[in-house]
Amino acid sequence: MEADGWDPVQYEQFKAERSQPFHDLVALLRPVPGGRVLDLGCGTGELTRLLHEHLGAAVTVGVDSSPAMLEQAGAFAGGGLSFEPGDIEVLGPAPPVDVVFANAALQWVPEHEAVLERWASLLGPGGQLAVQVPANLDHPSHRVIRELATEAPFATAGDGPPPDDRVRSVLAPERYAERLHELGFAEQHVRLQVYGHVLPSTDAVVEWTKGTSLTRMRRHFPADVYEAFVAAYRDRLVAELGDRRPYFYAFRRILLWAAR
Ligand SMILES: C[S@@+](CC[C@H](N)C(=O)[O-])C[C@H]1O[C@@H](n2cnc3c(N)ncnc32)[C@H](O)[C@@H]1O
Repeated sequence: MEADGWDPVQYEQFKAERSQPFHDLVALLRPVPGGRVLDLGCGTGELTRLLHEHLGAAVTVGVDSSPAMLEQAGAFAGGGLSFEPGDIEVLGPAPPVDVVFANAALQWVPEHEAVLERWASLLGPGGQLAVQVPANLDHPSHRVIRELATEAPFATAGDGPPPDDRVRSVLAPERYAERLHELGFAEQHVRLQVYGHVLPSTDAVVEWTKGTSLTRMRRHFPADVYEAFVAAYRDRLVAELGDRRPYFYAFRRILLWAAR
């Protein structure tokens, strides 16, 4: 685990499950032969490579704030694809691009209406925006983390109040559709999709969230408290969902695409 909380090995454990929404999002895009593409929150870079090739782009830049992720991404650079550190919430002025793409990254920043406006401003004429964001705030996998964090002994065991779940910033699908209209996009496609992930057992959900939602708790608690938190989380999750083998993890995601 790196200091920034991202653990590419843990994150890649459910690679096949995590990559299906990426492929569904890419399928919404029109190719941009010779064009310029931005992949915001690019992660380990492997999917950015596929995006770059699928779109036929001349230049694709993957942006991420995690040194651990960027270190992995370096292996996929070349042929017009590069990676750079940056904060996708506050991207500076840059030459206009043909595609702004963000798979499973928007949820890590607050104020989605403002962020979408900033991302849309990066597009040139005819530009396309494509975003996929998890929308499973109410699933026990997320709710139990929030509940436990406010209960003894965990409520007071970290440095300050427990960090909020970033997925809380995610808007309703129809609000994204309205926002895209307000931002002047001529065409759009917004949908809520449920991905059914067949995990070996209920407690495999813990391995899943260790790569995402639990990273904030790992940063918040000392190591021994974090271990105790994960154990309590596993127990409560299994008690609530039952010890199922396999466990069908129904995961809601919003996919949005729009063109200028
Ligand atoms: C769930 S991963 C998704 C990675 C990749 N897009 C994929 O589909 O596999 C989210 C990524 O967003 C990055 N991220 C989170 N907040 C960020 C920010 N404010 N600026 C830049 N990158 C950020 C994380 O470092 C992480 O690599």
